Amino acid sequence: MIQIILIIIPVILVFIFLLLVFWLGLVLFSSFYSDFVGAPYIQNDDKVIMESLKLAKVSSKTKLIDLGSGNGKVLRMAQKYFNVKNVLGYELAPWPYLLSKFNKTKTIRKSLFDVDLSKCNVIYVYLLPKILKKLTKKLADFKKENPNAKIVSPVFEIKELKPLKVIKCYHKGFKKDVSIFLY
Ligand SMILES: C[S@@+](CC[C@H](N)C(=O)[O-])C[C@H]1O[C@@H](n2cnc3c(N)ncnc32)[C@H](O)[C@@H]1O
Repeated sequence: MIQIILIIIPVILVFIFLLLVFWLGLVLFSSFYSDFVGAPYIQNDDKVIMESLKLAKVSSKTKLIDLGSGNGKVLRMAQKYFNVKNVLGYELAPWPYLLSKFNKTKTIRKSLFDVDLSKCNVIYVYLLPKILKKLTKKLADFKKENPNAKIVSPVFEIKELKPLKVIKCYHKGFKKDVSIFLY
């Protein structure tokens, strides 16, 4: 009996160790990957998300897309607090994508540059200016084809588009007021 225990315990410890190494590898890889593609995985502040969704006036009729949806929190908040039924996130990095799947959030692992935007009426984007710039033509075309649709961008301005409204909101992480842009 003691011999069996002496064999099983190291096997379990090695298994846990390998699991931890795999998890750490996945998190680190995701972090480098997000940085590499131009938008690090940084979950936005809850209050800023709430104000962004309010600004876009999301409701049960909204078809919401989050481009670079991270762990899917924005989509879950839209469902929980604004009764939005039609939500979809696009996320490339494996770790946040897996987290959104664990949280049963409708997310597709696909580049935000390849997304078909034609079926949504609100787009939420929390991305760095560098990646926003690359996305501008796609967003401008979307607005042209869907003039009543809305794009909401917390913190970072989409320079080439003219905002309909800009509000200020305190960002806990940044410890200062940030702007939220509605297009
Ligand atoms: C700043 S986070 C935003 C997370 C979430 N939308 C929020 O507001 O809390 C940006 C996310 O975009 C993802 N991302 C960056 N480039 C992408 C691409 N080309 N396609 C899909 N997702 C991308 C990153 O992995 C990261 O999770």
